[in-house]
Amino acid sequence: MNGVSWRLCKGKAYCFAVVVLVTISSFLYGHYRLSGLVGAGEKPRISALLRSDLKDRESEELSKSPWSQVNGERFSKEEKEDVLVEEDVLVDRVDLRMQEKERKCPSSLRRKIESHERLKALFSFEIPVLMWSGHLNDSEWQRLQHSPPPYGWQGLPYKVVSSTLLLLNDSTYGRLFPDKPESHCIRCAVIGNGGILNGSRQGRAIDDHDFVFRLNGAVTSGYEEDVGTKTSFYGFTTNTMKNSLIAYKQMGFRRVPQGKNVRYIFIPSEIRDYVMLYSAIQGIPVPFGQDNGDKPWFYFGFNRKPKKFRMLHPDFIHYIKERFLHSSLLKMEYKDLYMPSTGALLLLTALHTCDEVSAYGFITDNFRKFSDHYYDRVKRPLIFYANHDMQLESRFWKLLNSLGVMRLYQRP
Ligand SMILES: *[C@@H]1O[C@H](CO)[C@@H](O)[C@H](O)[C@H]1NC(C)=O
Ligand SMILES: *[C@@H]1O[C@H](CO)[C@@H](O)[C@H](O)[C@H]1NC(C)=O
Ligand SMILES: *[C@@H]1O[C@H](CO)[C@@H](O)[C@H](O)[C@H]1NC(C)=O
Repeated sequence: MNGVSWRLCKGKAYCFAVVVLVTISSFLYGHYRLSGLVGAGEKPRISALLRSDLKDRESEELSKSPWSQVNGERFSKEEKEDVLVEEDVLVDRVDLRMQEKERKCPSSLRRKIESHERLKALFSFEIPVLMWSGHLNDSEWQRLQHSPPPYGWQGLPYKVVSSTLLLLNDSTYGRLFPDKPESHCIRCAVIGNGGILNGSRQGRAIDDHDFVFRLNGAVTSGYEEDVGTKTSFYGFTTNTMKNSLIAYKQMGFRRVPQGKNVRYIFIPSEIRDYVMLYSAIQGIPVPFGQDNGDKPWFYFGFNRKPKKFRMLHPDFIHYIKERFLHSSLLKMEYKDLYMPSTGALLLLTALHTCDEVSAYGFITDNFRKFSDHYYDRVKRPLIFYANHDMQLESRFWKLLNSLGVMRLYQRP
């Protein structure tokens, strides 16, 4: 963390303040608050959106940067041809998959994406979502040196990456649902921790889904009526998980969801995540680094069968950043801090693996009416940090909802 903060503020007057803020807030929340430095310029965009009726504006929304990029309109002739060639190949492949899918699930979200020209060009179901040992060889090792985590392996020791991936030594780890039911649609609910869920009474509807994804400070005890009890997947980075256990302890988040049916989705945001996953499967205390001595069974329970663990592929995170969440924050000086939020990564994971997706507790237009989290004791505003672009994410969820690709839980 300190390496990043130093790079970010070298030679600036506000350096000391930034380092202190970054250190304190990353310790407490896993967020990096740079108060006053960002945000002001963003407001007009969301207020314009609040006034707008998306039905009329959805194509305008979609044509706005960044989602227009794959549409081809702003490309030069040569670039356009490249894009078209790529799209044709993609469409062929998707078509094959679609035929198979349609038989099983006529309401599949892929079908909706396929029937929408721009969405079809935006989504790629060929990108590997999860990583397993088959993804590691000399050429992949070289290729992924081009970006640091979470988008690649730059700066990571080969031994750490290889010994971790070798534990995920069969292609089942490349799939989220190994025992895929053949006969019906896979219905998923992804639960963000937004205050909109307080008093929502959505617990039963949530548990009714085949698979429920939760993330970070996912408190269920005491909030069953609003958020349900089922957890199929828990997604996190080691940093966000540990920060949530500290920051939300008083609100009841005393441990990570555990149990027979819970699986863990690691987001490989830094070396810690590889080392933690390795230790969890080996059943040993973390041997070195920032989490040295941590007992993984405290987080994930005593069942350490590798099938309980999954890890997102760096290519998938890169694709999400480039295609869907290419924030204007990436043009700013502290762009190194930016990455899609844990919630966004999990929701997009579901959108690339499930047939139907409902998102609960994600940011909506009227987020100011609700507290930051559903478990807050007193109402606290949602604060925008420089590490995520919640307003861009919010516009994207709204768009997917209005196009019928997923269902976004909203309340007046
Ligand atoms: C290396 O792995 C990638 C991804 O699994 C694969 O596409 C490629 O063919 C492999 N290369 C070699 C030389 O095995
Ligand atoms: C995968 O690794 C485990 C533990 O190292 C080993 O027991 C198992 O046989 C391996 N499976 C395959 C398919 O190589
Ligand atoms: C949660 O909802 C209850 C009842 O609807 C309300 O009284 C309370 O203030 C809400 N909590 C927060 C933190 O907004």
